[in-house]
Amino acid sequence: MAIMTSTTTFQPVLERIAEEIERTPGSGRPADYIPALAACDPRRFGMAVADLDGTVYGVGDWRQPFSAQSLTKVFTLALDLSREGDALWEHVGREPSGNPFNSLVQLEYENGIPRNPFINAGALVVTDRLHTRTGDASGELLAFLRAESGNPDLTFDQEVAASESAHGDRNAALGHFMASYGNIDNPVPTLLEQYFRQCSVAASCADLALATSFLARHGIRADGSRLLTRSQAKQINAIMLTCGTYDAAGDFAYRVGLPGKSGVGGGIIAVVPGRCTLCVWSPGLDERGNSVAGVTALDRFTTLTGLSVF
Ligand code: DON
Repeated sequence: MAIMTSTTTFQPVLERIAEEIERTPGSGRPADYIPALAACDPRRFGMAVADLDGTVYGVGDWRQPFSAQSLTKVFTLALDLSREGDALWEHVGREPSGNPFNSLVQLEYENGIPRNPFINAGALVVTDRLHTRTGDASGELLAFLRAESGNPDLTFDQEVAASESAHGDRNAALGHFMASYGNIDNPVPTLLEQYFRQCSVAASCADLALATSFLARHGIRADGSRLLTRSQAKQINAIMLTCGTYDAAGDFAYRVGLPGKSGVGGGIIAVVPGRCTLCVWSPGLDERGNSVAGVTALDRFTTLTGLSVF
């Protein structure tokens, strides 16, 4: 297939990828530590690409809402960074952790400062700070996602939030441990309620590809206003590339070559700066919490189109 130019439709390449995925179903399993996610059919597959002008191409289950989970960490980071700027980096780092997304192990010897905003500990710090600044971090997130996707029906999945809350001991441990270092402002139960609600957002590949477009537009929102400076948009893309898929970030950069962020609902968002955004969904996960078919599909997309940051 020829390398794509800026006027090319993405539809044929999406259809080719969907056919390939259908022929070779992956081996992944849905997340089961959040019981409400365990029932997902691992064979579901959807993929969407959003052009900078808001045109969306899609295939498979691309209009089916799924649990966004850690994909939301990109948006809360952007919303907080736009408000407090570099002061955020006194509370959370920007280095890959090399550990699983819910690991506690580095926090003690790094004095309660999480390695990066995309592991759970770092995302808890970001949500805490956004909540302090807005009075309603998850509400702020939902309003942003609705505006950017143009979908006013986007909402939280109360069943998923309750299910995670009932099995949330590890996130509670992270929150309390960081609070003991003075790195959490709000009462930990308030923070956890906000965080579980944030993670429970149900949105489709089309919604999430559109909502990610501000990162391909160098910080500009759908309505033309600026959320982030060009430099801040670059920073978030860089952290997605190095930390967005946790202890698999090296392999993801090697195979896909794009800033990307995964969630245990089986979604992955990815950015081609200045060109387009992608969201792929398939609930079968590998042992590091990344969608097996999702990574394969993005790998095929960058191979077939020649679009990557490298
Ligand atoms: O906090 C958790 O464990 C989940 N709500 C989100 C984790 C997640 O999506 C990690 N991504 N692969």
